[in-house]
Amino acid sequence: MDKDKSNVVLVTGATGGIGKSIVTKFAERGMTLAIADKDEEQANKLAHEINHNNGKAMVFPGDLLDKKYCDNIAIMVKEKLGSIDILINNAGLMRRGDITQTNDEDYELSMKINVEAPFRLIRAAIPIMAAAGGGSIVNISSCWGINPGPNHLIYCTTKGALAAMTKCLGRDHAHQNIRINAVCPNEVNTPMLRTGFKIRGLNPDDALDELNQSVPIGRIAEPDEIADVVAFLSSDEARYICGSLVEINGGKAVY
Ligand SMILES: NC(=O)c1ccc[n+]([C@@H]2O[C@H](COP(=O)([O-])OP(=O)(O)OC[C@H]3O[C@@H](n4cnc5c(N)ncnc54)[C@H](O)[C@@H]3O)[C@@H](O)[C@H]2O)c1
Repeated sequence: MDKDKSNVVLVTGATGGIGKSIVTKFAERGMTLAIADKDEEQANKLAHEINHNNGKAMVFPGDLLDKKYCDNIAIMVKEKLGSIDILINNAGLMRRGDITQTNDEDYELSMKINVEAPFRLIRAAIPIMAAAGGGSIVNISSCWGINPGPNHLIYCTTKGALAAMTKCLGRDHAHQNIRINAVCPNEVNTPMLRTGFKIRGLNPDDALDELNQSVPIGRIAEPDEIADVVAFLSSDEARYICGSLVEINGGKAVY
């Protein structure tokens, strides 16, 4: 975005593994952060850290299962912080299993958080960005949204939907100078990944060692390696990139 002004960045899932890295990255670049997460305590803590270090952050806590919250958050950010220049749809969750191992709750929850929430946030943000002359949106999809991995039917379906949504949006809103792209990471060292190991009865440290060996570059990604690409896609350096799905995989293809 415009390097000459302090841009306002809204990040969902801001206190999670990747979200916190994204927030920290933008704060280091002098941007104003709108921190959205359902974990209000962690959101306040993160905002306090940024403000304490001469940055600028405000919390917009809420549950992305709440349609009104999703529809209003961009408007609230504009009202409180003056604009919304960058939106990062980062919040997401993973439900595991093949289709016979899933239930209605898994399906509905995953669709609401991984697909419907970004849809609502983007729909509300676009008119505000368009009126201001442009903006940038980055969705956190997954390499499994491009090439599905095994036994994660719902997760792959939702991330595939988010990837398709990104490509449609990238084309539809380029004429308004709103660039919409997605990053598609493979495994990242976050609580989401470690929780998955525990659910499967594995020791997280041992499982991580094994996983690291499966990646051609020698290790899975750290959250700040995802945040760097998100920051790039949001910046003027990426001013001609619209509707792209950027894989971040250390050379590890799903297929
Ligand atoms: N970790 C990985 O290996 C990996 C790989 C590819 C893609 N991703 C994607 O990256 C994104 C971030 O993942 P992460 O690993 O940092 O996850 P995480 O579990 O560490 O963080 C998720 C964040 O989303 C928030 N959140 C969840 N449900 C919410 C709700 N109903 N309302 C508001 N906030 C809610 C949580 O509070 C948390 O802060 C997700 O979209 C995930 O699918 C992760």
